[in-house]
Parts: sequence; C-alpha cells; structure tokens
Amino acid sequence: MVNPEEFIEKAVEEIKNQIDGKAMIALSGGVDSSVCTKLAYKAIGDKLNPIFVDTGLMRKNEVQQIKETFSDMNLEVIDARDQFIDELSGVTDPEEKRMIVGRKFIRIFEETAKELDVDYLIQGTIYPDRIESEGGIKSHHNVGGLPENIDFEGIVEPVRDLYKDEVREVARELGLPEEISERMPFPGPGLAVRIIGEVTRDKLNVLKEANAIVEEELEEEEDPWQAFAALLTKGTGVKGDQRVHGWIVSIRSVASRDGMTAKAMEIDWDKLKRIGNRVASELDEVSRVVYDITDKPPATIEYE
Ligand code: XMP
Repeated sequence: MVNPEEFIEKAVEEIKNQIDGKAMIALSGGVDSSVCTKLAYKAIGDKLNPIFVDTGLMRKNEVQQIKETFSDMNLEVIDARDQFIDELSGVTDPEEKRMIVGRKFIRIFEETAKELDVDYLIQGTIYPDRIESEGGIKSHHNVGGLPENIDFEGIVEPVRDLYKDEVREVARELGLPEEISERMPFPGPGLAVRIIGEVTRDKLNVLKEANAIVEEELEEEEDPWQAFAALLTKGTGVKGDQRVHGWIVSIRSVASRDGMTAKAMEIDWDKLKRIGNRVASELDEVSRVVYDITDKPPATIEYE
C-alpha cells in the first residue's frame, strides 16, 4: 500500500515536470478522475481545464456534488442533457444505447479540447485498467474511451500504478468528500443501462428518486460492491382506490471483488420490505418493486 502523503507529493512533482502548457481532464464523478484533477490542480493550477459533461444520466445530486467539490477550479460544466436525451429518443437496443452515449461523449470531448486549445490530456487510468487493456481481456471502458481525432502533446496518467483501494486512500488524504472517495462503481453510460428500453426524461426522473432511496438504505450498512435501482417495465397496481399502470423498479445489491463475477446479497427481509414500501409509496409513478436475486453469471451487474 502506498503512503498517500508521499504519493501526493511525488505525483504533483511529476505532473509539474511532465506538463508544459495547458492540460485538460474530463471528470466523470468517479474517484479516479477526481483524484487526478486535485493532483493536477496542485501541480499546474489554472493551466488545468477540468471539464464535466452533464449527460443527464448521472444520479440524483451527483452533478451538484461535482460542482461543489471542484468549485475552487475553473471547472467547465457542459450541459448536454438535451443532446443525449434527443439522440437516445426511440432507441431500445442495449448496444446501440451504449454506442450513442459513448460516441456523443467523445464528440463533445473533442470539440471542447479544440476550443480550449490544450496540449495535454490527463486521464484517471488505474493499474487494473492497464492490465486489462494490455491483456486484451476487455477494453478499458471509461465513457467513450480515448478520443482519436486530437493530437495531444502528451497523455498524463497520475494514478496509473495504483489499485482502487489506494486511489481511495489518496482521495481521503486529499480531503475529497466521502461521496467521491467511497463511491460505488458507476457505469460510463450511466442510468441509460439501468433503464430497460428507451430512455426518457420521465423514466430518468423516477429512477433517480428510486435509486437515491436504495442507496440511502443499503450503501452504508450492507457495504455492497454496488447497490442501485433499475427501471424495468410497467405493471398494474392499486394506489388509493385507483388501479394504476406504474413502473416496476428492481433493486439490485451485489457483493463482488472486481465486478467480473458477483453474488446477489442476502438482505434482511424487514429491511427489503421497508425499502420496497418506501419506493412504492414515495413515488407515485411506481406500482411494484422486485429484488433481483441473480448472481453474475448468468446475469450481468447492470441491466443492459
Ligand atoms: P456488468 O454489468 O458487465 O458490469 O456485469 C461489471 C462492472 O462494470 C461496470 N460497468 C461499466 N463501467 N463503463 C464503465 O466504466 C461501462 O460501460 C460499464 N458497464 C458496466 C458495472 O457497473 C460493474 O461494476
């Protein structure tokens, strides 16, 4: 395990030596890019251009949290919510949804890099990402991967030799909030892969609220690898004395070491019932809640 204090000192020195000009980093909301942003800011100050693309596919309050955490910097938040929703309109195929989000992200990233006229790109690649890419197991799938149409003078990867738990240690040492340092993995395509079928604003709004309840109830106590809500399809329910056709929300909570395999967690029945009741009663649009008991394999962790 690295000594976080020493690591920070050394990393800042290295970034100073590597970067001679303007640099850019795309924040994803995750711990890796957040740590790199803080380190790079310490090293090159306002020559760093952190950007954050608001896809509208992030969780409740996540964008606000990012704005607050990096408010001391020249953070550029690109509001692309309408663009993403428009491109996803009518699309139901899971792979196509992923491709659209990835491609759109790269296009926005490239445009911004050109506008800012930066020389260097900073990336939050960590050690396991490199091993996986080099071993050809799977391509490193941060949103969209690497832009191909820009020639950067250099790509700087400050946490390239760290494991995830080491990055978290460094994040704590840097004073990043717990929501970031202890953040559960979150997929690049965001909530788009937790909605079955077409992504719409209404579905996103319901899912964000349902997910906030699930995280609030499960994240701290159960210490899962991931705990979240997904939106399935519609089903009949009764609310008051009315029959309603509302959303079916699935709760997923899994234990895993690396995301390659996972076990559905055994949640105390009273607790599960409480979460289910909260989701179905606090959200008018939800008529039914189910708990996903499937391991990976055969299911994946995400829904699409
Ligand atoms: P699956 O759903 O394939 O997910 O069992 C395994 C782990 O990877 C995360 N995941 C992603 N992470 N971009 C990412 O950065 C993606 O496109 C992506 N898809 C899945 C997932 O949350 C889980 O931790």
